[in-house]
Amino acid sequence: MFSERIVGSLAGGSAIRAMFEQGNILKKKYGAENVYDFALGNPDPEPPVSVINDLKKYAGEPGIHKYMANAGYPDVREKIAAYMKKETGVEFTGNNIIMVTGAAAGLSITMCSILNPGDEVIVIAPFFGEYKGYVGNFGGKIVRVPSIPGTFQLDVPAIEKAINAKTKAIILNSPNNPSGAVYTEESLKALNVVLEEAEKKNGNAIYVVSDEPYVKIVYDGVKVPAISAIFKNSIVVNSFSKSLALPGERIDYVAVNPAIEEADVLMDALIFCNRTLGFVNAPGLFQKVAAEHLDDVAGLDAYKERRDALYEILIETGYECEKPQGAFYLFPKAPIENDVEFCNRAINHRLVLVSGTGFGYPGYFRLAYCVSMETIKNSKESFAALRKEF
Ligand SMILES: Cc1ncc(COP(=O)(O)O)c(C=O)c1O
Repeated sequence: MFSERIVGSLAGGSAIRAMFEQGNILKKKYGAENVYDFALGNPDPEPPVSVINDLKKYAGEPGIHKYMANAGYPDVREKIAAYMKKETGVEFTGNNIIMVTGAAAGLSITMCSILNPGDEVIVIAPFFGEYKGYVGNFGGKIVRVPSIPGTFQLDVPAIEKAINAKTKAIILNSPNNPSGAVYTEESLKALNVVLEEAEKKNGNAIYVVSDEPYVKIVYDGVKVPAISAIFKNSIVVNSFSKSLALPGERIDYVAVNPAIEEADVLMDALIFCNRTLGFVNAPGLFQKVAAEHLDDVAGLDAYKERRDALYEILIETGYECEKPQGAFYLFPKAPIENDVEFCNRAINHRLVLVSGTGFGYPGYFRLAYCVSMETIKNSKESFAALRKEF
């Protein structure tokens, strides 16, 4: 008999992957150019040329393809610590940084390191559905707190109500997948007050795990508040998957706030989990390359152009939608209550969308605009026809 827990989870599946498969079926039937597939957040720009050049440069360096310390190359960790210090004002050193194989692994080793069975982890809906696995795999329980409808900002009083003695962590994801919302500094500071009070009352730390794959993908001059500067008990999970458009290469880092009590023990735990969960160490070549491109972002102007064009189409064709400040998603309101039914009906118009239910936030749907401007422009008639059905 296989693992009952895992086999039980299979039925839930992934809403994004299911629609991705749907898109492929439609493309076979109608031709790719006649399908408007907004299902998958797979960055379509190529990585910057300078990244490719650095890959070639480092690929021939003697010793680069060997095993190394499980936390990663010391020089890379130092470079990232200096960058984090510059960005946040927090005294990071290389000993607070661990290189990992993508944010997915970063979140997994974090949950593996902090959770005891039955611990609760607050997630803000809408949220990336994979959190259920990253938390559940280590005996944790997800507690879903909806964000404020429309703006998708933090509902701090609702978070306060959800906290109890079992609360071990809260996952923040700003800019958010799927809403594109960037949480305001004011709301984050208010949350910090709530967390500090709860920590005092319950006598244990509540870790803020900040999942930041989109932190560099922001528009209109918006600045994403630095989580490490606001929350003492913070663990930042970065990723180069989106910023450098290399999601297939699996490279990321986790930064542990030095102010965390026994931060050194947490680091040792993270390194242990990295090794024993089988990641061993992050890809060596990509560690070296990523550390040379900490400030770079692939395709930001193109994403902005697409966000504006798609947003305009949605508004013109009668959808209700907040204009997001970051990431590469739009999260409009479904014209009917049943968002799953709405996305199924969209298929008839060769539109591939993902239901808000898949992100723990029914009544909405997600569009990933990692597609060409041509696809966006050509999708207008389909959006209009779909809207007219309701
Ligand atoms: C919110 C969020 N967190 C984590 C991930 C995983 O990113 P990575 O490719 O770095 O593992 C994704 C990927 O889409 C994401 O959207």
